[in-house]
Amino acid sequence: MDDWKQRLRTYADAAEAFLAEQFTDDLPQKRLFEAMRYSLLAGGKRIRPVLTVEFCRVCGGDWRQAVPFGCALEMIHTYSLIHDDLPCMDNDDYRRGKLTCHKVYGEAMAVLAGDALLTAAFETAAGAGAPAEMTVAVLRMLSACAGELGMVGGQVLDLEGERLEPDAAYIHRLQELKTGALLKAACQMGVLAAGGSQEQLRAAADYARAIGLAFQTQDDILDVEGDFEKLGKRVGMDEKKNTFVRLYGLARCHEIVREQTDAAIAALSPFADRAFLTELANYLAGRES
Ligand code: IPE
Ligand code: IPE
Ligand code: MG
Ligand code: MG
Ligand code: MG
Repeated sequence: MDDWKQRLRTYADAAEAFLAEQFTDDLPQKRLFEAMRYSLLAGGKRIRPVLTVEFCRVCGGDWRQAVPFGCALEMIHTYSLIHDDLPCMDNDDYRRGKLTCHKVYGEAMAVLAGDALLTAAFETAAGAGAPAEMTVAVLRMLSACAGELGMVGGQVLDLEGERLEPDAAYIHRLQELKTGALLKAACQMGVLAAGGSQEQLRAAADYARAIGLAFQTQDDILDVEGDFEKLGKRVGMDEKKNTFVRLYGLARCHEIVREQTDAAIAALSPFADRAFLTELANYLAGRES
């Protein structure tokens, strides 16, 4: 196996192991725990924790200490997916190759599982054992990127965009928020965990912005060209959505993914050891799942 793929596996396994230990208590509300674990451990790609621990490593930190931060973000990401799939939002039946949370546990429990994962994320990050100042910086980063100026704000633009004519600036903004914001948190938390510099924080944000645009454009391409078996979620769901696929068509979208991936790689110049993050960006550009 290539070196970088080995590293990808090591990081994803570390995140998986950390997450597998969460929410196991045998309490009266254990059905909530079951619903949280059902979605959390359903086999996502774990790209966000992978980014966190690698940014920590390339900034000179011990990547293992960044695992709880990356996993806190993975909890927020999973909550966003549970809520995104609800009938009042995208109304999806499949996620990560399994029935969606609300299909198995009902809508009320799915809402609550999302709420609890969001809340648990902050407890996880706060309890990671990092120095107080670093912990506060990480918590601020997580809340800013998850909230009304981040992912939630982007989800609002996504929903309201269904009633609007496709418009490039609008789509750009919605992608940057609904997908880019959590990726920005992933990359910048890694820098924070290593006590990195302002320049490294800026470079991490630039890398995240570009892979975010590439990532969501690829997601929208896969809604047309992708395969249910590989994606683990239904395709052909985005007809009403305000996407670059609708605005520009597939051929131009493939170019956008390439251009943004190249921009992400260019943003890595302040980092001496950038091989893994370069490979990862290229891999995400060609992903089928
Ligand atoms: C899906 O994210 C939602 C988007 C932001 C496009 P991922 O493609 O990272 O989903 P998982 O975590 O691997 O399931
Ligand atoms: C979702 O975007 C991004 C989130 C913030 C959850 P999509 O609605 O396109 O994601 P999928 O296609 O359902 O994974
Ligand atoms: Mg959506
Ligand atoms: Mg969706
Ligand atoms: Mg999608």
